[in-house]
This record gives sequence, structure tokens and C-alpha cells, in this order.
Amino acid sequence: MLGAQWGDEGKGKATDLLGGSVDYVVRYQGGNNAGHTVVVGDQKYALHLLPSGILSPGCTPVIGNGVVVDPSVLLSELSGLNERGVDTSKLLISGNAHIITSYNVTVDKVSERFLGKRKIGTTGRGIGPTYADKINRVGIRVQDLYDESILTQKVEAALDVKNQMLTKFYNRRAIAVEQVVEELLGYADKLAPYVADTVLVLNQALEQDKVVLFEGGQGTLLDIDHGTYPFVTSSNPTAGGACTGAGVGPTKISRVIGILKAYTTRVGAGPFPTELFDEDGEALRRIGGERGVTTGRDRRCGWFDAVIARYATRVNGLTDFFLTKLDVLTGWEQIPVCVAYEIDGKRVEELPYSQSDFHHAKPVYEMLPGWSEDISKAKSFSDLPKNAQAYVKALEEMSGAPISAIGVGPGRDETIEINSFL
Ligand code: GDP
Ligand code: IMO
Ligand code: MG
Repeated sequence: MLGAQWGDEGKGKATDLLGGSVDYVVRYQGGNNAGHTVVVGDQKYALHLLPSGILSPGCTPVIGNGVVVDPSVLLSELSGLNERGVDTSKLLISGNAHIITSYNVTVDKVSERFLGKRKIGTTGRGIGPTYADKINRVGIRVQDLYDESILTQKVEAALDVKNQMLTKFYNRRAIAVEQVVEELLGYADKLAPYVADTVLVLNQALEQDKVVLFEGGQGTLLDIDHGTYPFVTSSNPTAGGACTGAGVGPTKISRVIGILKAYTTRVGAGPFPTELFDEDGEALRRIGGERGVTTGRDRRCGWFDAVIARYATRVNGLTDFFLTKLDVLTGWEQIPVCVAYEIDGKRVEELPYSQSDFHHAKPVYEMLPGWSEDISKAKSFSDLPKNAQAYVKALEEMSGAPISAIGVGPGRDETIEINSFL
């Protein structure tokens, strides 16, 4: 299950909904840049690092090797849930997952400040610098917490260049190796009960015909390879990321579900062809509650973009869509949907690979008739007003994969299931 747009599509709700019927829910990339909201009855949970399956008692939540883990955030998320009576004892964390250290958070913040107007608008959680260390082979992994001598050597190697950069280039104080090592060792015992060989656990589970659900963070257009680079996150939320980030082969994956919002939102900088700067945009933000769960920033809002949905179908090999937040569109007389772009006077049907073309892309809209009836109580497709049905059918046709579920409200039961996911 993954985001088909720029994140915040409702992955948390969708994952939680299936959590009750699957054996494992696995996060495979990203870190606490994610903010997944789950509403169960009158309780609302904001999850950042923990897989949304943590709220389903029968399900084992797994943090895969592809995730970057901030230990202090993880421990406070766990204790926050424990205080609310959620049992978190089944959690498994890959020993190969990389750790977001305090210096990675510092580097994220200072480099964004240094970029000035060209900044990415990151969440400031140290995500990019931690993945950079991983690729540069100077990263710290969860397993390193259990060997003080190796940990010290690795922190030394990581800080060697960084301290030069911080002091000489960014005008900041150097970070002491001993201080970082001491802080990291302080997490070791607390995390120890959860650390496991998650690749082995997941593959054994699949051999025993258990059902494993992979929960993406962020979304397709924020993917480091397939997104709107450089305005992206530093990992692969797209489907292939589930294989590398969890150590499960592509032949083991049977369904790839794209979570798709009935309109579009984006947080942070970067191109967004259907973005609205008028009262419609304001209305989507207000009605949809489009404010970041992680950073509290207002989300940029715009109409549905079918070019992006088709692109998501292609790069992920989507088998299904879960369409969310259809209820938010109630009340518009007509709803514009972007069916193609106009770039330098030419109509373009598919996402251009060139960044300069995408920055110029103007949406070509088709108007679909709206509806005014409250749809939040709809339980089946036929309960929806005719125009809402037609809107869903039109999106399905344009997007290239069947819409198998529709969200009509934030709660678990505010969902219309059309085809079973299992
Ligand atoms: P995620 O990051 O993809 O998990 O999405 P977020 O949790 O950041 O943002 C989605 C927001 O929409 C959350 O506040 C959800 O509770 C809410 N939500 C999810 N599905 C629906 C839906 O079908 N209708 C409405 N009205 N809200 C929804
Ligand atoms: P969920 O999982 C929306 C955006 C940031 C920024 C860019 C890079 O809740 O959908 P980063 O801190 O990752 O280096 O920031 O990516 N971003 C998200 N936008 N939802 C998210 O997660 C996001 N995680 C990162 O706003 O533009
Ligand atoms: Mg979110």
C-alpha cells in the first residue's frame, strides 16, 4: 500500500483498516517525516515511525531495513501509545535499519537554511542526511548500538567530515564523538527487545502463507527516483522500495494498492500543476483538514490530476486504488479534473520526464458534475449519488487501475469496499 500522489493520501487509515485482517504490517522506507493519522472510534492517533498495524492487536508491526529510525522519536511514540493502552510488545525492528542521529538532524536544518529560497522544505527530521550517510557508507545501524567499539569508530568516521563542514562552512560548533556515542548507547537496552532479523521473519511468514502488508511513507511523486526531483524525499516510496526496504522478493507481492486522494495536496516546495490559489483551494484545505500531521504546515491544495494517477499506476504496477476523501468534494456544483497538460502550447497526456517541462505544465481541465448530498454514511457504491458514482468511474477510467475502496470519512467504518483486497 503506497501513496499515489505527494503523500498524505490517507495511507494510515487504509493500512489500519486492513490491519485487522493481516498478520504483519511493514514500514519499508522513510522515517518520522511521515505523519499517518488513524481514527478508531473517538480516538485519533498520529503515527510517524510505527506502522499503522500497531493498532490492530493480532498484527505484528515491523520496521524494515529500509527505514531510518530516530530512537528518541520511536521510544516516545511507543510510550505515548502505551499510556493510551495500546500493546506495542510485538514490534520488530530490523537490525539493519539506519539510525537518525542528532547530527543528521542538525545537518538537515542547517543545509535547508543555507539553501535559502532554493530550500526543499524538508520536515527537518534528518531524513536526507541519514540516507546520504547510508549511501556514503558512513551510516550508523541499529545493530551498531550493541558493539561500543564499532559504534565509536563509525561515529568518528561520520563526524570527521561533518565537523569540518559544520565549523568551517556553516559556522557551527563541532559535535563531540563521545557525546553522540553516549546518547546512542543510552537507547540500546530500551530498543533491544524489538531488534530482530526481520528479513528472515517476513520470508518465513510468507512461506507459511501469512499475509504481509507493506505500508509506504510519503508518495510516488516524492520518490527519489520517480518523483519531482529535487523536491522529493530521500527514499523510494514506490513499489520497488518495498522489496529492497523489507528484503522480500518481487515475486512474493500479489497486490499493489495506490492510495489516491479525490483531489491533490502537497507539503513543501516543488511543482504542482493543479495547485489552487483561490477560495476553492482554501475550501479544500478547510473541509479536508489539510494541515501537516508532522510539521503543522498548511498543505497546498488543488484539483485531482489524472496524469499523475496514470503515472503512479505505471511506475508502481498498481493493481488497485483506494480512493480517499471523496466526502470532502461534496457541495461543489462542478468539479474540475486535470486530464492532460498543456506544455508550450502542446497537449501532453503523460507526465513529462523533463523537469523544465513539468514546471511549465498547465492543467487541461474537464468539468464533472458535483453533488450536494451528504455521502459520509454511504456503505455501498450504490448509496452514492449518481454524480459521485460518475466522478469515481471517471477517475478510475483515467487512472488505469480499478478503484477497489472509497473513503467517505476519516473513521475505519467510513469506507465503501468494492473489491476485497485480500
Ligand atoms: P497519510 O500520511 O497518507 O497517512 O495521510 P494523513 O494522515 O497525513 O492525512 C490524511 C488525513 O485525511 C487524515 O487526517 C485522515 O484522518 C483523513 N482521512 C483519511 N481518509 C479520509 C476520508 O476518506 N475522508 C475524510 N474526510 N478524511 C479522511
Ligand atoms: P506521509 O507519509 C507529505 C515532504 C516534505 C518535503 C520533502 C522532503 O505522511 O505521506 P524530508 O523531510 O522527507 O526530507 O522532506 O518531502 N514530505 C512529505 N509530504 N507527506 C509526507 O509523509 C512527507 N514526508 C516528507 O514536506 O517537501
Ligand atoms: Mg501524512
